[in-house]
This record gives sequence, C-alpha cells and structure tokens, in this order.
Amino acid sequence: MHANPELQAFLKPCQNQVESALDHWLPTATIIPEQLHAAMRYSTLGGGKRVRPVLVYATGMALSGNTQHLDGPACAVELIHAYSLVHDDLPAMDDDNLRRGQPTCHKQYNEATAILVGDALQTLAFQILCKDKNMRINAETRLEMIQTLAIASGSRGMAGGQALDLAAEGQQLNLAELENLHIHKTGALIRASVRLGALATEQRDDALIQKLDHYAKCIGLAFQVRDDILDIEGNTETLGKTQGKDQAQLKSTYPALLGLQGARDTADQLLTEALDSLSGMNEQADPLRWIANYIVGRSY
Ligand code: IPE
Ligand code: IPE
Ligand code: MG
Ligand code: MG
Ligand code: MG
Repeated sequence: MHANPELQAFLKPCQNQVESALDHWLPTATIIPEQLHAAMRYSTLGGGKRVRPVLVYATGMALSGNTQHLDGPACAVELIHAYSLVHDDLPAMDDDNLRRGQPTCHKQYNEATAILVGDALQTLAFQILCKDKNMRINAETRLEMIQTLAIASGSRGMAGGQALDLAAEGQQLNLAELENLHIHKTGALIRASVRLGALATEQRDDALIQKLDHYAKCIGLAFQVRDDILDIEGNTETLGKTQGKDQAQLKSTYPALLGLQGARDTADQLLTEALDSLSGMNEQADPLRWIANYIVGRSY
C-alpha cells in the first residue's frame, strides 16, 4: 500500500483484524438466501485498502483505546463504504465493470442482487453498532455512534454527495460547489471513521475532538482529490478499477477544474492543514500522520 515501513507495519494487523471481524459478522454463503449472502461477502471481503477501518483503529489508539473495542465501528464504516461502492458502480450511477480488480457486483451477479447487497450491508453496519458486545461504551455513547454513522451515510452525507456528483455530470461547478460535493460523497464517511474511533474510547475532551475532526475533514477531502488525480494518471491494473472514467462521463473533479498540478497543490495544502491539526498530539498519533501522508501520495 505504501513505501513507509512504519505505516506498513501498522496497516497489516489493522487490515487483518477488520477482515476477520467482517468475516465473523457477514452471514456465510450457506445460509438462505445463499446468493445474496455470497454477493455480500464477494463485495466486502474481496480486497480494498481498508482506509476507513484503519482510521478508526489509528484514532482509537491515539487516544489509548484497545483495538478490540474498535472492531465494531471499524466493520460498520467498511460495510457502509462497501455498500456505497456496489451502488456507485451500478449502471444507473457510474456504470463500472471492474472494482477491486474483480467484476463489479452487478456484473458478477445481477443488478437486483447488487441493489440488495447495498441495502443489506448498510443495515448490517447499524446492527453491529447496536449489538457488538466488544464495544466498551455506555448506551448514550452507543446511540451517538449510531447517529454519527447515520448522518454521515445519508442525504446530509455520502448519499447526498452521490446525488450532487450525478447532478454535476457535464456541469461546470465552481470550487466551493466542488468542495461541497467531495466533502459529502467521500469526506463524510472518512470524518465519521475518526469520530467513531474517538467515541469508542469515550473520549470527551472537546478541544481534542475538534482537532481530530478538522484533521479528518482535511484528509477526507484530500482522499477524493487524490482519487480524481488517479483516475487520470493511474492505470487500470494497479487501481483495480477502470482508469479514465471521470473524463469519459464528464464528472466534476478537481483536475477538471484546476488542472492536474492545481489538484496536486490542493491535496498538499490539505495534508499540511491536517498535520497542523495534530501538532499538539504525541507520538501515539503518528499512525494518523502516516495515513495522511499516504492518502495524498498513494498510487491506488
Ligand atoms: C474508492 O474508495 C471510492 C472513493 C470514495 C474515492 P477507496 O479508494 O477507499 O476504495 P477501496 O476500499 O480501497 O477499494
Ligand atoms: C465514489 O466516488 C464515492 C462513493 C462511492 C461514495 P467515485 O465514483 O469517484 O469512486 P470510484 O472512483 O468509482 O472508486
Ligand atoms: Mg461515483
Ligand atoms: Mg465511481
Ligand atoms: Mg473516482
């Protein structure tokens, strides 16, 4: 995922941990309805960088949390993300054939199954936040976590951003409008990942939460700016998804508005701002710093 060996050493156990937790929560493909369960597992367990769960773990650990208490929210954000990708790839949206190096869910199965996979992954995310016994939090905090993920996923978050994205095809947005689109479609869930990581530790230091939230806002936007850049300068094999789709579909992106260099400069400024937000935190927050660097420099 990245050349930084410290980041690599941090990522691998986090990725393994969330993958085994996801495997535990996802119904096996032998349970009726078998095809739906097989398609849910196909869309969730087959690859992906796990950036959002890694952020849940990194935030929780920066606040001295125990990683086992973080598995529930780590799974919940990844399930919402996986659902958003399955629906994003549908013919009615971006109409993509390739995701995480494999046929998209509707290509491997069919469109109705892909719609239901999204529905079921989304509700499973909330089921986990409601009932995971490993989360050591009081009922009030649990409700706050459920609300955080609900708002980040809905019409005031990711789904709303996706609506703005589709409406902006072939349109000329200004910078403020484009920033608003990206902050919602991608930023909201990344921001929720950091907030859930903090809530899972029962952290109540408002000033610290504010700093983490600003960090998350910056890297959430930077994540989509880099995604837009990679759609131009990446290649299909490395990305595991079809390169060049944004230009073909006249999507509103940072490189389309600012040029490639302008988009790179924006990502760099967001990185600086994200790191500045963490300046008061000790080395326990280093993984958050490594992840921020990774997000703007990644090649897939
Ligand atoms: C892709 O997300 C969609 C965006 C929100 C930009 P990721 O780049 O995190 O995709 P995976 O999970 O690693 O496949
Ligand atoms: C997707 O943005 C954002 C969400 C799925 C919420 P993109 O449409 O740019 O993501 P990719 O490039 O298909 O992964
Ligand atoms: Mg899209
Ligand atoms: Mg897409
Ligand atoms: Mg994209």
